[in-house]
Amino acid sequence: MNYRNALNYEGKVVLITGAAGSIGEGMVKGFAECGATVIAIDRDLESAENVISELGDLKRDSMAIAIDVTDAETVKKQVDVIYDKYGKIDVLMNHAGMNIRKPAVEFSEEEWNKISDTNLKGIFLMAQAVGKKMIQQGFGNIVNTASVSAARGHCNLAPYAATKGGIVQLTKVLAHEWAPYGIRVNAIGPGYVMTNQTRHYLDDPVKYNELISKIPMARFGEVEEMVGPALFLCSELAGYITGHTLYIEGGRLID
Ligand SMILES: NC(=O)c1ccc[n+]([C@@H]2O[C@H](COP(=O)([O-])OP(=O)(O)OC[C@H]3O[C@@H](n4cnc5c(N)ncnc54)[C@H](O)[C@@H]3O)[C@@H](O)[C@H]2O)c1
Repeated sequence: MNYRNALNYEGKVVLITGAAGSIGEGMVKGFAECGATVIAIDRDLESAENVISELGDLKRDSMAIAIDVTDAETVKKQVDVIYDKYGKIDVLMNHAGMNIRKPAVEFSEEEWNKISDTNLKGIFLMAQAVGKKMIQQGFGNIVNTASVSAARGHCNLAPYAATKGGIVQLTKVLAHEWAPYGIRVNAIGPGYVMTNQTRHYLDDPVKYNELISKIPMARFGEVEEMVGPALFLCSELAGYITGHTLYIEGGRLID
């Protein structure tokens, strides 16, 4: 093992879904900075293209591609296109997700289906399509994005928590089935992350203090602090780790 070089992703082809989102954009930048060729996948193609063009000199052969991860046909077709173009897939950062917060009794069936299709079916379809290629090539790393909600019964997150808990279990099954093919499958479980969607909590000190009072490190995480663990899990440094969910939550789950 060359520890010093372990986060060098030069020559690696890395697929990132949800690439146009707050954390996804950070993932694209992080993997590109480490030398990877990144395929930025999102249903919002224009924003994903912006993320790629902002890479500047780090762009290399990176590109953006439109995939709605809930659409099995598109997922399969576009993964074929990517595999044919690049000849391999080293990493899938399976990251696209969505959330609606409200009491369980208020969710419509349509809302349940949307969250469940995006967060659970979408993660499975991407993992399945890419997993087939990785089995064929005999190597690969998949990291699925779960959440601390997978491990706690926080209110107002019924469908979201159910899907994120499902991701933790799905990660274990895929890790077990695909270990013989040289594929590792892990998950990350972010806590509150400081993004454009959560920054507004800073404007409400009472709410913000209430939230961070439950976090031993007494702050939200930064996007970069989600990227580092993902880079680690997909690297040789984590070569004997599979089926795990690495929670990144400033100690939120300690007690
Ligand atoms: N932000 C947080 O505090 C936090 C905490 C825990 C977990 N997470 C997880 O991290 C991931 C990203 O979160 P974020 O805050 O960056 O969210 P975000 O809303 O900023 O980004 C999500 C991205 O996913 C894309 N997307 C949604 N549905 C899609 C679909 N069907 N097909 C393709 N792309 C789709 C969106 O277009 C968007 O670009 C999610 O899985 C989320 O559940 C976030």
